[in-house]
Amino acid sequence: LPNGLALTPPMGWNDWNAFGCDVSAQLVEQTADKLVSSGLAADGYRSVNIDDCWMAPNRDAEGNLVPDPVKFPDGIKAVADYVHGKGLKLGIYETAGTKTCAGYPGSLGHETADANLFASWGVDYLKYDNCYNQGVPSKQRYQAMGSALAATGRPIVYSLCSWGTEDVASWGGTVGNLWRTTGDISAGFGSMLDIFHTNVQLAKDAGPGGWNDPDMLEVGNGMSVTEDQTEFTLWAEMAAPLISGTDLRTASPDTLRILGNRDVIAVDQDPLGKQGTGISSSGGLDVLAKPLSDGSVAVVLFNENATAATISTTAAAAGVPSSSNGGYALKDLWTGRTTISGGTISAAVPGHGTVMYRVSPATTRQLPPSTTLLTTL
Ligand code: GLA
Repeated sequence: LPNGLALTPPMGWNDWNAFGCDVSAQLVEQTADKLVSSGLAADGYRSVNIDDCWMAPNRDAEGNLVPDPVKFPDGIKAVADYVHGKGLKLGIYETAGTKTCAGYPGSLGHETADANLFASWGVDYLKYDNCYNQGVPSKQRYQAMGSALAATGRPIVYSLCSWGTEDVASWGGTVGNLWRTTGDISAGFGSMLDIFHTNVQLAKDAGPGGWNDPDMLEVGNGMSVTEDQTEFTLWAEMAAPLISGTDLRTASPDTLRILGNRDVIAVDQDPLGKQGTGISSSGGLDVLAKPLSDGSVAVVLFNENATAATISTTAAAAGVPSSSNGGYALKDLWTGRTTISGGTISAAVPGHGTVMYRVSPATTRQLPPSTTLLTTL
């Protein structure tokens, strides 16, 4: 959506995956504190997003949405003020239907009033869901809220939670800043893999201001560390929104390390805004390539199978510009080590694991002193 927002994929946190309906002002504010103290805010995670169940069961006499008085005793604006005071943004949730998915009042037919209310509270991001939609075409329902948000004059990132229905990827970029491409993720390798397979095919629809959304991250919510690292790698390679869905207050060192890998984040946030695509796939061994703004290419070797395997490709197949000296620098973005290659990109990849390289033409300085590069590497 050309509203000047989300020129790179949104980054932040959302309570749903870890807490479901158990959201509160305290949780949101404590998470904002942790985003800052852990360094994740400085890494780019700036939007703290409230999901479903923040409301009281009914609108008030004037027809306004009402925050649940127990979960949000001082209302949403107070939470927005707190979060803004930390240099962060606040997100909220509603639905393009008569009720939210959890049964709270929906925004269908109330778009202008609700958008104005959100803007008056200082909301910076709206996740807009698709339950109880009365069979009205989704583009029409999402456009209605989009127009209402634009009319408020407040910059509000607009997230269409449309589950990949009604071919949303083909029109999402004219209506919103991101659009869900699948049903809900759960914290298991199978769920993550299914979503990856759908989302990776939609690369042509993504770009600055409009992103395919394969749902929020499950890093830290029960997969193995290898699988968590794979999810984060694949999401970054697909230029997906990086919205943590875990309890950051109690997150493990591995979870914080994965979410905080700045080299991988830089692939996700690369200003060229190209979603990575599959360049080969055979027997559950996948190779993906994502062109980056400096001319390098992020190459992912992904092993879908449970047992380790060697996965190989070449710099030429990945579209890395050839270098005059014939060498390529391969920076492994999880170990931080750089190796020099004559063109082969290959690694032993653990079951359910990924290896991610940033591949660029080698500078002469990076080459070994001998002239035997092409024969020895
Ligand atoms: C739907 C969405 C989820 C979450 C829940 C909340 O299932 O897809 O991401 O927002 O609703 O009820």
